[in-house]
Amino acid sequence: MATLEIHDLHVSVEAENGPREILKGVDLTIKQGETHAVMGPNGSGKSTLAYSLAGHPKYTVTGGTVTLDGEDVLEMSVDERARAGVFLAMQYPVEVPGVSVSNFLRTSATAVRGEAPKLRTWVKEVREAMEQLQMDPAFAERNVNEGFSGGEKKRHEILQLELLKPKIAILDETDSGLDVDALRVVSEGVNRVRESGEVGTLLITHYTRILRYIKPDFVHVFANGRIAESGGAELADKLENEGYESYVKGGASA
Ligand SMILES: Nc1ncnc2c1ncn2[C@@H]1O[C@H](COP(=O)(O)OP(=O)(O)OP(=O)(O)O)[C@@H](O)[C@H]1O
Ligand SMILES: [Mg+2]
Repeated sequence: MATLEIHDLHVSVEAENGPREILKGVDLTIKQGETHAVMGPNGSGKSTLAYSLAGHPKYTVTGGTVTLDGEDVLEMSVDERARAGVFLAMQYPVEVPGVSVSNFLRTSATAVRGEAPKLRTWVKEVREAMEQLQMDPAFAERNVNEGFSGGEKKRHEILQLELLKPKIAILDETDSGLDVDALRVVSEGVNRVRESGEVGTLLITHYTRILRYIKPDFVHVFANGRIAESGGAELADKLENEGYESYVKGGASA
């Protein structure tokens, strides 16, 4: 059973007037098969947590530990993390001009699996995954995210998730900007991966509507750079009704 353990994680970014601490001691353990929803106000550091786990160079870890099955994740390069089974679906997926979706997926799968997938089975795998996500096959020949609508970018993130089958999936606001049908299609994709029981999911979201499709085992309130409270699925409803005010003491987090 894969386990991601985050302990007392502190992360800073380089701001104009020197380093600014964004994560102020995050503790979180995610086991394979579990789904953790993280909810919290804008600017509280949720994406910073996601990027820090994936190894984005903009974020400097100043304290704490992150391990995957006891292995030090913070020591790993971005590629090594992906190979170890850490996957990030970004809040704002980036365009990769000059690289087609089909090449991008094959390169990623080769890197993560350690060998190039056999061409015949691979083509079929991609086609089926795209069909299930109701993506036009024409997307395979387009450049990654170039000119994609917001919802199309999110579908492309989940396409990667389905093909790469990570141990730990970090989904940063995968639900934002989706119409009701797309939300269902994307949630079904996430659930197909979850049903394998082999992935631990960290689902960052602002809305309880995605939690109707993807049932979390745990809900965490993220405020001021750390987890302020943890509970079960019912905590999400409480947050929707009452907001975050009681967690954001002393006002501005941003
Ligand atoms: N280079 C930087 N300089 C100064 N502040 C920064 C920099 N990069 C990030 N921050 C700040 O870090 C804080 C956390 O940002 P982050 O994107 O992690 O928030 P979030 O919880 O994901 O918010 P949202 O819900 O809006 O996506 C924000 O206040 C942001 O302005
Ligand atoms: Mg964010």
